[in-house]
Amino acid sequence: MKTILIGALALLAGTLHAADDGRQLVAMPAAAEAALRVEMRANLLAINEILGLVAAGKITEAGEVAEKELGHSAMGKHRSQPFDARPGPHMPAAMHAIGMEGHQAASDFARVAASGDRDKTITALPSLTSGCVACHYAYRIR
Ligand code: HEC
Repeated sequence: MKTILIGALALLAGTLHAADDGRQLVAMPAAAEAALRVEMRANLLAINEILGLVAAGKITEAGEVAEKELGHSAMGKHRSQPFDARPGPHMPAAMHAIGMEGHQAASDFARVAASGDRDKTITALPSLTSGCVACHYAYRIR
């Protein structure tokens, strides 16, 4: 029963995706697009690492990774690159704002985790991925 339900949901999600993709297409130079993708894969890696650390009870370490890889400390990585290789300036303002809010949320999470409080840190975990979801459901680059 459970398998059938999951199968039906996957099918439904597939249909919705194909028929109803209302995301805004954002045009970027190829170099900026490549830089964005590299950064995105690093984001996913960081989320995975943070989840693993929280699960293992390594709360302050999880906060350190969040700040370094996703928080304010992770901003400006492309600043020294040529304009065409920087994703940020090619984003519409609203998209860029979601990105900034994501960095802010990660730094806020890092502060909670720095306390070493496991329960509060677990409660704060979803704030790490809200920005990812908000941007991915609103924008695409191809
Ligand atoms: C400001 C917008 C924005 C935010 C915030 C954002 N992403 Fe992305 N992400 C994108 C866009 C745009 C793409 C490319 C989508 C496409 O192919 O059209 C992308 C692609 C990706 C990819 C695929 C990379 C590849 O190699 O193709 C991964 C993985 C990813 N994002 C993970 C994340 C994670 C995890 C977070 C949160 C920590 C996140 N993203 C936050 C905009 C964003």
